[in-house]
Amino acid sequence: MTRNTGTEDGSMITYEAARLEQYGEFMQLMHDEAHEYLRGVMELVQMTRAQFDHLFRTVGHVCGIYEGQRLAGFYWIEQRGRILHLHALIVKSQFQNRGIGTQVLNMLASGNRDNVNSIELGVHESNERAIRMYERQGFKTVRKLDDLKFRIMQKQLP
Ligand SMILES: CC(C)(COP(=O)(O)OP(=O)(O)OC[C@H]1O[C@@H](n2cnc3c(N)ncnc32)[C@H](O)[C@@H]1OP(=O)(O)O)[C@@H](O)C(=O)NCCC(=O)NCCS
Repeated sequence: MTRNTGTEDGSMITYEAARLEQYGEFMQLMHDEAHEYLRGVMELVQMTRAQFDHLFRTVGHVCGIYEGQRLAGFYWIEQRGRILHLHALIVKSQFQNRGIGTQVLNMLASGNRDNVNSIELGVHESNERAIRMYERQGFKTVRKLDDLKFRIMQKQLP
């Protein structure tokens, strides 16, 4: 299924479920764009890279984010009960700061209002840009994991 949202400048952002052959590319993208946070995530869930890779391929849903025909990044979500967990949101560096991450968060909130009560994510304390974006989108810190320098943020959906 493909879903569309327009960006501020009018270009179209689309989302497509990851194809099997894309998982390796997306995992590499996660290492390229977020390697300094990924170690923390793996510690958080107490996993080796191989176990994390397996989880990525088998749990929840991974969708590519496209600007026109070009892959701009991906997100990885999992619904558990009435909470939507955003396990990863990665925008390629050349597509960052153009409102795409914000668009994805808006789309996830508006598209899941009937399924869940909140969206939850974990973010490294040093990732100030991501924290700013999440706070602007109404996410609040609900828990801090000081030893891992991670915070859990939640957004309640109306
Ligand atoms: C964090 C991340 C997902 C943000 O995605 P993004 O698409 O760059 O986010 P946005 O463009 O919506 O917002 C980022 C900045 O662009 C600005 N911006 C938003 N729309 C804009 C537009 N149309 N034109 C110019 N700037 C814009 C925002 O104001 C924001 O500025 P700020 O950082 O000074 O507050 C992205 O940087 C990323 O993938 N980083 C690496 C991986 C990562 O850390 N992921 C999150 C793990 S929890």
